[in-house]
Amino acid sequence: MTALEKAAPKLTAKTRAGGCAAKLSPKILDRALKNLPRWENENVLIGYDTADDAGIYKIAPDLALVQTVDFFTPVVDDPYTFGAIAAANAVSDVYAMGGRAISALSILGWPAGEDEDVLGKIMAGGADKLKESGVSVLGGHSINDPEVKFGYAVTGLIHPDRVKSNAGAKEGDVLLLTKKIGTGVISSALKKGIAKQEHVEGAMQSMLTLNRAAAEAMDGLDVHGVTDVTGFGLLGHAREMALASNVTLEIAANDVRFLDGALEYARAGALSGGLGNNRDFVASCVEGASEVDDLLYDPQTSGGLLIALPEAAADAYMKKMPAAYRLGRVTARGTKPLKIV
Ligand code: CO
Ligand code: CO
Repeated sequence: MTALEKAAPKLTAKTRAGGCAAKLSPKILDRALKNLPRWENENVLIGYDTADDAGIYKIAPDLALVQTVDFFTPVVDDPYTFGAIAAANAVSDVYAMGGRAISALSILGWPAGEDEDVLGKIMAGGADKLKESGVSVLGGHSINDPEVKFGYAVTGLIHPDRVKSNAGAKEGDVLLLTKKIGTGVISSALKKGIAKQEHVEGAMQSMLTLNRAAAEAMDGLDVHGVTDVTGFGLLGHAREMALASNVTLEIAANDVRFLDGALEYARAGALSGGLGNNRDFVASCVEGASEVDDLLYDPQTSGGLLIALPEAAADAYMKKMPAAYRLGRVTARGTKPLKIV
């Protein structure tokens, strides 16, 4: 019996948008952030200006904190699996900066009167996944909420000289991605009741996989830029890297790998609202188009690392991390920050 079959309550049926697809439209966020004051503090190594994965705050010459928070609505129906995915997704932003995750605080929105057994399973799934990450849960905060929401604020440590931001991609670099694309459409198909179980299982396995090994495989290699691909989709996060690095990222649409079922569900129109928001926000930054366009904007939950690095380092990385594959290259800034070829 699979995790899906033994799930009594249909968690995803009670939410309007699942997982990272529930993210606020990037347009709204961009407008609000523009008006915030900038911090003048030399210890803030990475703030929100460059839309990086996590903030970095130096607490000693050789030590900095990596801080990030992520929470969302259910992407799968099995409560334990949902909790575990929320944890893998939250901790990923620490890995995307090259950090070592150490502690977490949980964040919970819970409807009054909902089955407490389900809540226990969500939290157990999260706790087990964080244990696998070597992260201690120190506490948390919960509120009464008509929609289930769960996630974590995660803290990590890093040497200030070893921070891997999204801002370092250089002309001539190869682009690698460590996971396949398509968790958003598969979650939408699940909500619509048209997803095949094997496809849901495949997406779950991908979302449950920690980016820890993908991050550790960068050790000792000349890696220029890194980010994880989550709610803004492949092109949304590629855009952030391109802007922060002042380059153009060229994505070879035919080289992008998709989870089994993803193309089928995209053609069947199982597209989340988050996908439309991403397209609205990012499309003006993209030159060219492809048949798989929809999926390039698909919001990912617990997606892989997008890495920019020189050719030789890319070969060495793929030897250490066989799931990683090439999907493009970095060029000098062209007419647009992104180009689909
Ligand atoms: Co991220
Ligand atoms: Co995030």
